[in-house]
Formats: sequence, structure tokens, C-alpha cells
Amino acid sequence: MPKKTLPAGTRAKLLKSAKKVMENAHAPYSKFRVGAAILLSDGKIFVGCNVENASYGMTNCAERTAIFSAVAQMGPKIEIRAVSVVNDHGVPCSPCGACRQVIYEFGPDATIFFQGAEGPKQAHITALLPEGFRLL
Ligand code: THU
Repeated sequence: MPKKTLPAGTRAKLLKSAKKVMENAHAPYSKFRVGAAILLSDGKIFVGCNVENASYGMTNCAERTAIFSAVAQMGPKIEIRAVSVVNDHGVPCSPCGACRQVIYEFGPDATIFFQGAEGPKQAHITALLPEGFRLL
């Protein structure tokens, strides 16, 4: 369980930020736009969208775009408190395995908000990624 429950207003702001950045997605191949917003422990919010490529494997997910943007602007000491993920199909979409590992690097106590099979869902990062890898 996360240490602190996120206030409803903060969660709503995070969701709104994710929905807004989703519009910037570059997803001509999958036609599946994704937006992600991350909340840092200092209260700052960073956003990202999926950025696809004609060489499909070069695609970057929305979650990693947001995290890499935060690191680029704030440095590597960021702590992710929460992540909100949305897609333009309104279908279940939890972070992929690669993104879970990247979230865990900067947010070992993060809460993830996403669309589950039975509607909006929240889960602790360690529930989505048991025994995540750490070097430090
Ligand atoms: N995608 C994300 O950006 N985040 C997720 O959590 C799941 C998948 C993207 C990658 C690709 O551009 C598209 O969704 C279809 O897989």
C-alpha cells in the first residue's frame, strides 16, 4: 500500500494532464494514442505521450516519455509518487513491462492509475512489477 493516499483533486489534475498530452501522440501506425502524467514528490507534474516510429521497435511509450522528460528537466533525483495513464480508445491499458521497470527506478512506492478490465483502477508499482530490478 502507498504511504499516503492521493487527494482526489490531485488525482483529477493528473488525469486531466494525461488526457491533454494524449492529443500530442505520434501514433500513425497503431492509431492508439496514449497520454501519461507523473506526479513527483515535490508536487510537480510532468507529461508524456507515445511517440511511434516507422521502425516500430523505436516507439517510446507515454509513460517513459513523461519520466525521461522529468529527468531531463529536474535531474535524476526525482521521486515519482503517482502515474496516470489514459488512451483514446477507453480500453484497458496498464503500463507495459518496460515502463513498469522504468517507473520502479524512480518510484518504488508509486501508485499507478489506469483503465482496468472493469473500469478505472489503481495499483502499487510493486503489485504490477513484483521483484523489480535494482542496482543501487
Ligand atoms: N503504449 C503506451 O504508450 N503506453 C502503454 O501503457 C501501452 C502502450 C503505446 C505504445 C504504442 O505506441 C501503442 O501504445 C500501441 O502499443
